[in-house]
Amino acid sequence: MRVAMIGTGYVGLVSGTCFAEFGINVTCIDNDEGKINKLLNGEIPIFEPGLDVLVKRQTAAGRLKFTTDLKEGIAGAKAIFIAVGTPARREDGHADLSYVYQAAKEVAPLLNDYTVIVTKSTVPVGTAREVERIIREENPAAEFDVASNPEFLREGAAIEDFMRPDRVVIGTDSERAQDVMRQVYRPLYINETPIVMVAPETSELIKYASNAFLATKITFINEIANLCEKTGANVQQVSKAMGLDGRIGGKFLHAGPGYGGSCFPKDTLALAQIGIKHNAPQTIVEQVITANKNRQEDMAKRIIAAFDGDVKGKTIGILGVSFKPNTDDVRDAPSLVVVPLLQKAGATVKAYDPEAREQAEKHFQNVAWQNNAYDVADGADALVILTEWNEFRALSLQEIKEKMNQPLLLDFRNIYTDAEVKAKGFRYISIGRQEIRPDECAVLKAAV
Ligand code: UGA
Repeated sequence: MRVAMIGTGYVGLVSGTCFAEFGINVTCIDNDEGKINKLLNGEIPIFEPGLDVLVKRQTAAGRLKFTTDLKEGIAGAKAIFIAVGTPARREDGHADLSYVYQAAKEVAPLLNDYTVIVTKSTVPVGTAREVERIIREENPAAEFDVASNPEFLREGAAIEDFMRPDRVVIGTDSERAQDVMRQVYRPLYINETPIVMVAPETSELIKYASNAFLATKITFINEIANLCEKTGANVQQVSKAMGLDGRIGGKFLHAGPGYGGSCFPKDTLALAQIGIKHNAPQTIVEQVITANKNRQEDMAKRIIAAFDGDVKGKTIGILGVSFKPNTDDVRDAPSLVVVPLLQKAGATVKAYDPEAREQAEKHFQNVAWQNNAYDVADGADALVILTEWNEFRALSLQEIKEKMNQPLLLDFRNIYTDAEVKAKGFRYISIGRQEIRPDECAVLKAAV
């Protein structure tokens, strides 16, 4: 079995490599020569734990190849996956499909035997049908079907998610295409992973609905956390007890500084746009988008409020700038909102992230980058945990305290407990676990 993967971004590279692990011959194609050259030299352009080992193994086994040549890359492929980017258009949040359609146009004249063209990128409802129309128009004689096959990979856990998914969703009306897709996912099929066969439109919507629902769950618990702070309740206990109800489930109920990343922000925006376009407004999702934006800004306000509204001349240390741990991705991360707001309010910012510094440097100015958490603490007036990297979970609070100007820890991921931090003599502000002082509330409203 041979498949081709167009696009060696996050989804394409992880999926292509994992298909090779299934024993399939995979060629990954990208028109970015620099990227392909890197991959040919064994360099991985993204940070994803475990991916380097798999790429090396599959390349050595001859099952995973990389090329810039589309014709060579798709030769003999039973399925051609389109895994190119679909960035949100700046003007309106619509997913930009130009790369997807371009790939379809380029593939069309090169098709020989029966092939399934698979859209793997996250695309609005109707895209698979449009891809089919484009290919048919470009090459009326081509024998092919189009299937939608969205991915549900989490950055940082993508290989595990690919190898042991909760479900595989395949959207096509063609039985012939279904057979090919069953062969592609044969190892999972044998493992009894649920394979959901639906129409392309349904498959496309499943992806958006899943991401939007998870974003809604997070936003819901974040607002409950606000209420916990005002009432003296504890959000971790609320979410744990809620999660024990099997109908609710405990995952994605961790309150924090707001969701970020390359998926939830983009996909919620796109779903809201799809709703408007089809005259079925997704008002809950629209509200989630607004609430999450406010939440990220609110994190900066909380830090400023901790200084009674004035951070001028203060040094704030930031621990973690990626949108979540185990990735170097900073897209739509809370740090992108928090750091500039602190700087605007007159604070000096020091920061450390185990992986994301290089990416973050493209967005930040005048941040004093450090090589570890202790150097960030050195001379800082406050330390803020924005990302729950494992190495921040067991810091020597004693050493941190000795280095700081004043012992103030703002833990926006709730990775410490009130008792342990306060026992070390810190002032501790976390999420949804203690009442905010009434005077802080007033400052909070006024700040920024
Ligand atoms: C998300 C989905 O989880 C994947 O299933 C999907 O395939 C992917 O988007 C995609 O569409 O490609 P990802 O963006 O990698 O994956 O990250 P998540 O682990 O879902 O986290 C997203 C954001 O939510 C992060 O900022 C994280 O800190 C935040 N989050 C997550 C919370 O604040 N609380 C939680 O309980 C869970």
